[in-house]
This record gives sequence, structure tokens and C-alpha cells, in this order.
Amino acid sequence: MPPLAAILLAPALLSLVQSKTINSFAGPYIVFSHRYNPCQSQGVFVVHARISHFNPKRPYDLQTATGNITLKEDFKDGYWAAGTMAIRSNNQWKENAFVFNIPRKGCSVIRENIPDLYRLFAEVTGGPVADRTAPCVLPKGTYFVPEPRAVNVTLANIPILPYGRYWYRGTLSRTRNSPSALACVEFDCEVIPKP
Ligand SMILES: *[C@@H]1O[C@H](CO)[C@@H](O)[C@H](O)[C@H]1NC(C)=O
Ligand SMILES: *[C@@H]1O[C@H](CO)[C@@H](O)[C@H](O)[C@H]1NC(C)=O
Repeated sequence: MPPLAAILLAPALLSLVQSKTINSFAGPYIVFSHRYNPCQSQGVFVVHARISHFNPKRPYDLQTATGNITLKEDFKDGYWAAGTMAIRSNNQWKENAFVFNIPRKGCSVIRENIPDLYRLFAEVTGGPVADRTAPCVLPKGTYFVPEPRAVNVTLANIPILPYGRYWYRGTLSRTRNSPSALACVEFDCEVIPKP
């Protein structure tokens, strides 16, 4: 299992095992976003996005995004990526249900794990789209996505996920001990059974 898959699965499986009443299940899934925020950072990489509403009656319709992307330097690998996940349980967020760190990564985490999101970023910024062996680099610049663009955020290496509602916050920093992050994103998202 690729490391990110293990990282993403671990907290939810843990909570599944720990929950006294088994009220959640894992399986083939659709993941969608309730809300996206760029959070406080140095703003070296900033994605502003408005994401369309997910319609539960049409679960195979992909959500679309409009917005803008600012990359003050080339976005590549070599950063310290960190994430925390809260899990919604009994109408409360269980904060930092899981914390993880991925050293020396950045661009290729997205390319390998959420390939369709990478495709959108690469198309918008002029990075390499098809050649998965090319160095993963999105060139610096300011880019606009004025028209809604569909994006499939299914995790490529993870065929099943535990269902539930998650609050995910990810940061990228120069090094582990950097006082402030280069970038920060927050998602309130939900994993539901694939009908
Ligand atoms: C999204 O991607 C997954 C995995 O590649 C695929 O199974 C699914 O059919 C895609 N969804 C849509 C609506 O294209
Ligand atoms: C990007 O979008 C945000 C939110 O709409 C806006 O505040 C910001 O000024 C935009 N950035 C650029 C470079 O236009």
C-alpha cells in the first residue's frame, strides 16, 4: 500500500475499531467536498476555489471548481508536507484524530494520489500532464479558472475508504521546523458509499 494510502486509511480504521457501536463501514466510495478554505500561510502557494454543490441525487456528477491559483515559485517536490484530520462523530469534530508528515514531497503526492486534480492543475499552469515520469513541477505564475472545471478527487490508489465526514487540513513548509507554512488548505469533505 502506498504510504499516503496507509496514512489516510489509518485514522478512520482506527476510529472504526475504537467506536463502541459499529455504525460506519468502509467500501467503494464517492468523495465530495462540503467546503474548501485556503488557510493562513505565507501565501507562497495559494489556491482560491469555489466548488459547486454536490447533489446526492446525482452522485456521479463531478463537482466543479472555479477560482485562481498563485504560485510564487515553481511548485515541485522537496517540501515538508503535514496534515491533520478531524473526524465527525456524534455531531462533534474529533480534532486531530490523526496527524501525519510526509518529508520531501509536494507535487508528486498530488500527481500520484489524486491524478485528476493534478491534471487540472497541470492544464491550468502548463505543467507536464501526460508524462508521469517527467519531474513533477508546476511553473510559478498566477492562473485563473474562470469557467467551472470538473474534477474527480477519487484517490487513485485507494479503492475503499471508511465512510464518514472528515475535516482535513494540509500544510506545506520549507522544512519540518519552519515557523510558518508556505501553503495551507482545509477541506470539509465526506466519503459516501458508491451507489
Ligand atoms: C472518478 O475516478 C474513479 C477512479 O478512477 C472512477 O472509478 C470514477 O468512475 C470516476 N468518476 C467519474 C464521475 O468520472
Ligand atoms: C483570487 O480569488 C480570491 C477569492 O475570490 C480573491 O480574493 C483574490 O484577489 C484572487 N486573486 C487574484 C490574483 O486575482
